[in-house]
Amino acid sequence: MANINLESLKGMYDRYPEEWATWKYLIETVDETAEEFGFRQIDPPTVERQQLWTEKEEDSVTDEMYAFEDKGGSEVTLVPEQTPTRARLVQKRKDLKTPVKWYCTSKRWRYEDVTRGRDREFRQGDFDIFGVESVEADAEVIAAAATIFKKLDLEERVEFLINDRSLLESILESQGIENTEETMKVIDDKEKMSEEEFLEDLMDRGLSRDEAEQVDKVTDVSGPISEKIDELREKAPEEVQDKVDRMESLSDALQSYGVAEMCEIDLSIVRGLAYYTGLVFEAFDSEGELRALFGGGRYDELVGEFGDRDVPAVGFGFGYSPVIELLKKEGRYPVKDVETDVYILTVSDSVREKGLDYARKLRKEGLKVETDLVGRGFGQQLGYADSVNAKRVLIVGERDLEKGQVTMKHMESGEEEEIDQDEVVEHLESEGII
Ligand code: HAM
Repeated sequence: MANINLESLKGMYDRYPEEWATWKYLIETVDETAEEFGFRQIDPPTVERQQLWTEKEEDSVTDEMYAFEDKGGSEVTLVPEQTPTRARLVQKRKDLKTPVKWYCTSKRWRYEDVTRGRDREFRQGDFDIFGVESVEADAEVIAAAATIFKKLDLEERVEFLINDRSLLESILESQGIENTEETMKVIDDKEKMSEEEFLEDLMDRGLSRDEAEQVDKVTDVSGPISEKIDELREKAPEEVQDKVDRMESLSDALQSYGVAEMCEIDLSIVRGLAYYTGLVFEAFDSEGELRALFGGGRYDELVGEFGDRDVPAVGFGFGYSPVIELLKKEGRYPVKDVETDVYILTVSDSVREKGLDYARKLRKEGLKVETDLVGRGFGQQLGYADSVNAKRVLIVGERDLEKGQVTMKHMESGEEEEIDQDEVVEHLESEGII
């Protein structure tokens, strides 16, 4: 016998049905929200040319890619995220009518340091709108994200932090801080550092102590967007006042979508990916130290980098792993168990065919139905039905059938009822199972 290690690789998980039930519920909630907002599902490849990520300057994912040379000698990678893929798809199909609104949940891979909510194989649900430059698209993607958290009953626990990266850059430049690209990298890590560490890191990258303190002060600005507009106006140089106007319009639009109370502006949010051009946002557990629950922003230049067509874009990637961690913290996990509507318990081999007849009929009604496959005894079948959370057990026995009856067991109450053998469907209808 080969000596095979049965453990999955680090950061990759074997999800058995009991665990997967909650993930499935989460995926269904995200997908249902996307459909409600008119996003259409796509299914792009999970292996792509490395160039899609490496062409642009290095960012937080290029070092972490599962990159390799395939047998044909092409430099390929498992996708670490889907945004460049989507930009490629939009550039390729010139006939697409904008706005293009796409969603999809699928697996992504990054060779990361594994921690709670940070895996090497993970799922993201991406929502993007292509072809709309105006703030309405920004508000719509944020509203769609907020709707997911409302449906999960987590809206009280989540805050959306919003910023405009180009506005922040202009404010810093107007204060004489030139090295903004390096500065942005340090700001991206600000929440993980003490104030002194933050200042020192900035000084290591060439800023004076005065400048570092200025950066600290500017990036401390946070609060409800509408309350911070005046402060932004004061800080922003004349030539970028239109970006403050845009932030104000976003605040109004978020109000119209009914999600403004979940959103705050936070000038320390810059995001690690290189393609964002303006708006950036992330969501956090308002009471904890979990990593971002999702992240996104505007990337108006990425599509244009892949060809001759310029298409503005905005979107986000919903992170399933940190949201599952949040549900665990809330004591709400598992949200869903494995489900079975009816287990058909056949008392003896002689009634097996009759049992299968019932199974066929009930499956036609759309129910999840299981039958005995291994000739187990009464008690064992009942135990199994309980383990798969059957709502009802239909007991089919010879003696009952002679009287024209079968027995329906209600698993939660334990009550049993004899019913006419021809009225099983009607009975389940009257009980709301069908
Ligand atoms: P991102 O911030 O790299 O953005 O990822 C988005 C979310 O995916 C994160 O906030 C986190 O919840 C989840 N995530 C990222 N890495 C991991 C990991 N190693 N394990 C578990 N969850 C993870 C993007 O990927 C952009 N493409 C999002 C986007 C779409 N921007 C515009 N459209």
